Amino acid sequence: MKLSGKVAVVTGAASGMGKAIAQLFAAEGAKIVVSDHNIDNASLVVNEITSAGGVAFAVAANVAKEVDVQHLIDSTVAEYGTLDILINNAGIMDNFVPAGDLTDELWERVFAVNTTGPMRTIRKSLPIFLEKNSGVIVNIASAGGLYGSRAGAAYTAAKHAVVGLTKNVGFQYAPKGIRCNAIAPGGVATNISTSINAPNAFGMERAMVGMQINPRTGSAEEIAKVALFLASDDSSFVNGTVVTADAGWTAY
Ligand SMILES: NC(=O)c1ccc[n+]([C@@H]2O[C@H](COP(=O)([O-])OP(=O)(O)OC[C@H]3O[C@@H](n4cnc5c(N)ncnc54)[C@H](O)[C@@H]3O)[C@@H](O)[C@H]2O)c1
Repeated sequence: MKLSGKVAVVTGAASGMGKAIAQLFAAEGAKIVVSDHNIDNASLVVNEITSAGGVAFAVAANVAKEVDVQHLIDSTVAEYGTLDILINNAGIMDNFVPAGDLTDELWERVFAVNTTGPMRTIRKSLPIFLEKNSGVIVNIASAGGLYGSRAGAAYTAAKHAVVGLTKNVGFQYAPKGIRCNAIAPGGVATNISTSINAPNAFGMERAMVGMQINPRTGSAEEIAKVALFLASDDSSFVNGTVVTADAGWTAY
């Protein structure tokens, strides 16, 4: 098992990639904190993990709220004694809204969840990692964090910021035994479309231009395997970078 005895926090773990990551990491021997703002679904994931012989508990946390982030990491340490792996996965779409139609409210909401959330969980986790001179962070960015029109302006900018945060943390804390990498998934079959309602017609049309060259949609389990690589010692020399997992979509 690749994560025996490790303690892992996964945000947005009630669904999609976060759920698949929580399940795979548990099967690889990690003790999991299944965190989500949807506590009912998070508890279902905990039941699945424990039924399969894994160790997990659920924490209700909206990553856009500092008080929830504090509670999430404090509960992790209270229950398991430490933290080894932080997976920043919680994220929402932005209705494909282009710059000209953006509201401050949408911009701030998307940044609060997709960018400020990861910053706060990292900020809260670093003292734990620094004390033991080890720790691993994996941020779920997006192909939209590397290229210009996979979503609307807010999502694209927010995920680009996650990539910048990943590189900054990865380099600056490298001498402290801490690694920070990101995954840029292409299209993956999850429930993320539930965070889309009344998509902007112009923005969606401009975002969908590239879909005809997308080789295929991926599964959450395929992303979980990349996360396992980045969270385990198999990737000990990989730091401050982004692993694209998109069946070759962005290679064109
Ligand atoms: N699905 C894709 O095609 C795709 C592609 C690239 C990147 N991503 C990214 O992958 C990550 C996971 O998304 P997914 O596709 O598995 O979606 P999903 O909707 O299936 O899962 C996301 C989970 O995050 C939770 N969540 C949302 N807002 C939250 C908040 N404020 N606090 C805590 N939890 C919150 C949701 O309740 C849900 O359980 C996101 O960051 C998303 O941007 C998705």
